[in-house]
Formats: sequence, structure tokens, C-alpha cells
Amino acid sequence: MTLFDDLRDCCRPNVPLAPLTWFHLGGPARWLIEPRDEPQLITVLHRAREAGLPVRFLGLGANVLVRDAGVDGAVIRLAAPAFQQLEWTTDGARVGAGVHLTKLVRACVHAGRAGLEVIAGIPGTVGGGIRMNCGGRFGQMSDSIRRVRLIDRDGRVVERRRDELGFGYRKSQLGDAMVVSAEIELRPTDSRALVERFKEIWLAKSRSQPALEQQSAGCIFKNPDPQRFAGRLIDECGLKGRRIGAAEVSPIHANFIVAHPGGRAADVIALIEHVEEQVYSRTGVRLEREVEVW
Ligand code: EPU
Repeated sequence: MTLFDDLRDCCRPNVPLAPLTWFHLGGPARWLIEPRDEPQLITVLHRAREAGLPVRFLGLGANVLVRDAGVDGAVIRLAAPAFQQLEWTTDGARVGAGVHLTKLVRACVHAGRAGLEVIAGIPGTVGGGIRMNCGGRFGQMSDSIRRVRLIDRDGRVVERRRDELGFGYRKSQLGDAMVVSAEIELRPTDSRALVERFKEIWLAKSRSQPALEQQSAGCIFKNPDPQRFAGRLIDECGLKGRRIGAAEVSPIHANFIVAHPGGRAADVIALIEHVEEQVYSRTGVRLEREVEVW
């Protein structure tokens, strides 16, 4: 008898993670768990905790690099319909953690509700976007968050307001807790003007970054401070186009690493380390990773 024998409908052993990440690289998860609903998620978390099994949360896999050896633990994904709800409220929306951000942003823009257009073009799920406080030049996810519903490692449901979530630049302090849904604040606005703004932001992103179809995980490093950009530093060190195996520093935006077909996660990791060393030795700046390496 294995740990999740009675939960075979949602817990699968030894599942390849590569197809579930944007890098399309890396090995399998010992367990891939896709709970049907919140009670089943709580059961799974209890079980994993009792067994001392490490747990990781996977959203759209747009900011994660899985090592070639895979993940020796449980990877939980909120892909079931119970985590996909989108419900308008008078001044915002209630959304499930599994909702795709691109879909949510488009729905808000078409409904004439402003706030989230600032993250147009950033791939991820609501849960992942909140955890890393995704964003960029135009704004960040936390600006539109009112409350978040979380389940902690002990399976307790807790609700937290924005100011209790420890949001900062590309970070939150959710710790071991998993986002299951969120209340978003949105401002009613003229929908034609909002569509124009959305297009502007989308266009700025697609002009300055590699195409979304390329195998990458967006920006690899955080910007060291609001005046210093990781992409510019890497570019100034002459690293655009630098390759290790099938991994390449994007010739379009130096803070992206793209993986060409046939590569391994180890190529990307070696290139990340190479960029870190080069930038440190030439500029004295120690870049901090934005991408999570599992
Ligand atoms: N730059 C260079 N060379 C490059 C890349 C950039 O000189 O190869 C310069 C640009 O000319 C610009 C500055 O660096 O003056 C900043 O570049 P950009 O405007 O592209 O913004 P960024 O800080 O690199 C941030 C987010 C992106 C987000 C964009 C747009 C971070 C680490 N990155 O990029 O988010 O898409 O703003 O909103 O905050 C991500 O998080 O994965 C991501 C891609």
C-alpha cells in the first residue's frame, strides 16, 4: 500500500513535469496531485505532512525550472474546475487560484474593470502570480489584491488581507501556505480606453521580449533595484547569445534564457551560474534569482 492508494483519482505516481512547465525540461514528480476540491486538498496536505513528504505547488510552470532528476516529493496543482471560478463582485472579482492570468486579465479588460491590465502578457495562474507577486514596468499583482484564501501546511483554512501577506518586489510571505482563491479589487472604467491600454502594455512586452512560444521562464533574475535592471547588466557584460548546451541567453532580452530543443535542465542551470559569475566578477553585483529551481 502506498501513501495515496485510496486517492488514485487525484494522485498519480512518477509523472513527468516537463510538459507542465514552460521550459519543457526536467524529470518527474514522485507524486503529482490534482485535488478535486478544497476538502480533498486538505486531506492530501494532512497525509503528506504525516508522512514527512515534501510538498511543492505548481501553477502554470512559467517561473520554474525542474532539475533533470525531478522532484522527490509531492507536486500539487490546482487544475480542477473547483479552482477555476471567476465571479464578478460590485468592485472586483473572486477568482480561483487555478485561473490563468492571461484569461483573467482579458476578462477584466473586456468587462471594463481596470487594475490587472498592468500584468498583461505575464503567464501564470492566480495562485502563482500572488505567491511571486508577478509584475513588471507597469505594475504588480499585489496592487489589485484585497484578500486571499489560503490553506496552510496543517490543512487550516485562513483568510489574509493584502497588508498581511508580506508583499514586496517579486515576493510574498506565504511560506508553506497554498493560495486557493483571491478577492481582486477592480475599478469600473471606460472599456474602450482600457482595451487600448491593455494593447499598449501587451505590445511593449512583445516588442522587448522573446516570443511566448519559446521555451523559457521569463526573467531569470530580479532587478537589483528600481534603477538597475538585471537585463541591462547582463547585456552590458556582453552575454547575449552566450550558450551552454541547448541553453542560450536570449539575444532579444538578456534576462531571459531560452532552451533549444533537445536540451537538459542542467544546461540552463549551468548557464544561470555562468551569468551570475560573469556579472559578479565584472560589476560586483550579485544577481538574485527570480526563477525557482526545483
Ligand atoms: N535592457 C537592456 N538589455 C536587455 C534587456 C533590457 O539594456 O537585453 C534594458 C532596457 O532597455 C530597459 C531596462 O533594461 O531600459 C529594463 O528592461 P525592461 O523594460 O524589459 O524591463 P525588465 O525590468 O527587464 C520587467 C519584469 C518583466 C516584465 C517587464 C515589463 C523583472 C525582473 N522583470 O522586466 O517580468 O515583463 O518588466 O513589464 O521585474 C518576469 O518577471 O519574468 C518578467 C519577464
